[in-house]
Amino acid sequence: MSEALLEVRNLSVGYRIGAGTVHAIDDVSFTVHEGETLGLVGESGCGKTTAGRAVIKVMPANASITGGEVRYRGRDLVPLSNEEMRAIRWNEIAVIPQSAMNALNPVYRVGRQIEEVIVQQDGASPAEARARAEELFRLVKIDPGRLAHYPHQFSGGMRQRALVAMALALNPALLIADEPTTALDVVSQDRVFTRVRALQKRLGASMLLITHDMGLVAENCDRVAVMYAGRIVEQADTRTLFGAPVHPYTLGLKNAFPSTTRPKDEALISIAGAPPVLLEAPRGCRFAPRCPFATPRCRDEDPALRPVGPGHHAACHHTALAGEMRARAVLSETWTAGAP
Ligand SMILES: Nc1ncnc2c1ncn2[C@@H]1O[C@H](COP(=O)(O)OP(=O)(O)OP(=O)(O)O)[C@@H](O)[C@H]1O
Ligand code: SF4
Ligand SMILES: [Mg+2]
Repeated sequence: MSEALLEVRNLSVGYRIGAGTVHAIDDVSFTVHEGETLGLVGESGCGKTTAGRAVIKVMPANASITGGEVRYRGRDLVPLSNEEMRAIRWNEIAVIPQSAMNALNPVYRVGRQIEEVIVQQDGASPAEARARAEELFRLVKIDPGRLAHYPHQFSGGMRQRALVAMALALNPALLIADEPTTALDVVSQDRVFTRVRALQKRLGASMLLITHDMGLVAENCDRVAVMYAGRIVEQADTRTLFGAPVHPYTLGLKNAFPSTTRPKDEALISIAGAPPVLLEAPRGCRFAPRCPFATPRCRDEDPALRPVGPGHHAACHHTALAGEMRARAVLSETWTAGAP
């Protein structure tokens, strides 16, 4: 396997709120290798954005990294100052943020915002920055004349593509794409993401693709990390994760998305309930209240992430029964009966 570009080790992040601290991610580890695309997938609120933002330390004021390391090319970014991080953002690691609507400043022309990044981070002259911004707009298929427009004059899809252009402005080695297409209609989603992938390949960049969309992950990722309630619960190469998943949460997520192997008329099955709010560390397995395969041991004992095959890890006490769980997981009554 190629060299590790990003190694997140035992990372924990908390948000201080009135009622205490939300432990949004807890002891999370994953690696993105040179040139690969790692998918980080899970339902809303599982901690995906928190993990992505902690990597570049662009976090809300009430957030703090409470433990762990973020090694980029072997160097831990956690202790770095803001000044030191500035040299890494955009140049080395760039983010396509989750909300295209809020990510652009409404009072400045879009071109100015992209050119500023190029001037400030790369020391380019304003004329060079303009030429590069025009080239980037052509790459993401926006007429460069639009650089003179304000964000509100762009469609949602154009705003998203402008953010893609901005993220690629300085040829970063790692792209963190946080739900890069969720705000778009299905047709634009395909177009925007196809462009992102083509540009990523051209740059030879690695990508951390954050999404709730199992279809997007299946088609685009080399490896996948599944997140539930602030933890990684399963991690494997994409073929294994979709072909022989072992964690009940992964089985549930797979059921909730259309796939080419599922008969067209078969209804999608969703997992009842929602991920917990992590104000207190839950006892036992975090998925137990929603898991159709839970046993008394699951409610008492927190399962560790353990190897279950080559490059395949899962945090479940009952991975030995994975074959049986996979067979039962495709039946809707398994999920409607509630946790035993
Ligand atoms: N600024 C904040 N203050 C307090 N809690 C927060 C804050 N931001 C996020 N959280 C909480 O942290 C947890 C993880 O949120 P996060 O945004 O990382 O989830 P996500 O997996 O990206 O979800 P989505 O798919 O909806 O984007 C959630 O419980 C969320 O409510
Ligand atoms: S440890 Fe138990 S509750 Fe948790 S996922 Fe596995 S079977 Fe379900
Ligand atoms: Mg998010």
